[in-house]
Amino acid sequence: MQKRLNKIATDTNNFLKKYLKKQNKTDLIKPMSYGLFSGGKKIRSKIIYDIGSIFKINYRSVIHIGAAVECIHAYSLIHDDLPCMDDDDFRRGKLSTHKKFGESTAVLAGNSLLTLAFEILSDKILNINDKKKNLLINSISKCSGHEGVAGGQFSDLNFEKKKISLNKIIDMQIKKTGKLFSFCCLAPVIVSGKFKEIKKFEKIGEKIGLLFQIADDLIDYNGNMQIAGKKTQKDLARGKATIIRVLGQQNSINYANILKEEIFATLKKYGKNSNNLKASVNYILNRNK
Ligand code: IPE
Ligand code: IPE
Ligand code: MG
Ligand code: MG
Ligand code: MG
Repeated sequence: MQKRLNKIATDTNNFLKKYLKKQNKTDLIKPMSYGLFSGGKKIRSKIIYDIGSIFKINYRSVIHIGAAVECIHAYSLIHDDLPCMDDDDFRRGKLSTHKKFGESTAVLAGNSLLTLAFEILSDKILNINDKKKNLLINSISKCSGHEGVAGGQFSDLNFEKKKISLNKIIDMQIKKTGKLFSFCCLAPVIVSGKFKEIKKFEKIGEKIGLLFQIADDLIDYNGNMQIAGKKTQKDLARGKATIIRVLGQQNSINYANILKEEIFATLKKYGKNSNNLKASVNYILNRNK
């Protein structure tokens, strides 16, 4: 698992480095690269690879689509760390982008990474037909905007220091984190042309994302800054609405395990072809960074 993840991370980074190199030099490339390449697991690209191995998608397309997703992910983290959001000075064991380059630069580098994702997906070097490409761009747009990442981030901040029901927290976490995983799960299905399967994989993605966020919240709850590369024990202090705050630690772990079993049950019909994805889900659940 770790070896495969490292290979995918290297290939995704190399794709993005080459892509940026072809473009005109600008002053934003440095902060954008800092957000993209200063570490990061590239787990979302691995999920695309895993589903790609169920639907027999070629590796080039997997890395191409993964690169677009990692741009959106990097943008979301740069903005998430800003003083007007979570106000975090460290990310991946280094200064966060606004600490290193200043706030306005971080905002603009984030914006540029968001639009770079659409540029990458619409590029002619992604060798799939226009109908599929259009559907990919349409889906990633929805997953990133007010119905997805941005909307979820709004609720996350809006819910601080308030009493929020479990269902509302789940809905917020599915948006801020789950929707991008949904895109990772449905993108290979779109490329395969098996459009009837899209809904099912969209749902699997939401569950993986929710499980991912529970694991992230657990890392904040009792993790170690040295390992996590970001400040821990912050969510409680900021009054973040998390599943741990409502259910407690053990029940949150139990809930994450139920999600995992639900995902595995849906994957049963794919047999051995889903082993890569199962390994990723286990990795997500048991990680400490
Ligand atoms: C952190 O995501 C932000 C959340 C959605 C919880 P990752 O844990 O994937 O961050 P990196 O890219 O590996 O640093
Ligand atoms: C971030 O959630 C989710 C995003 C979409 C960026 P968190 O705020 O918990 O992520 P970390 O803990 O800062 O990485
Ligand atoms: Mg946040
Ligand atoms: Mg944060
Ligand atoms: Mg967190």
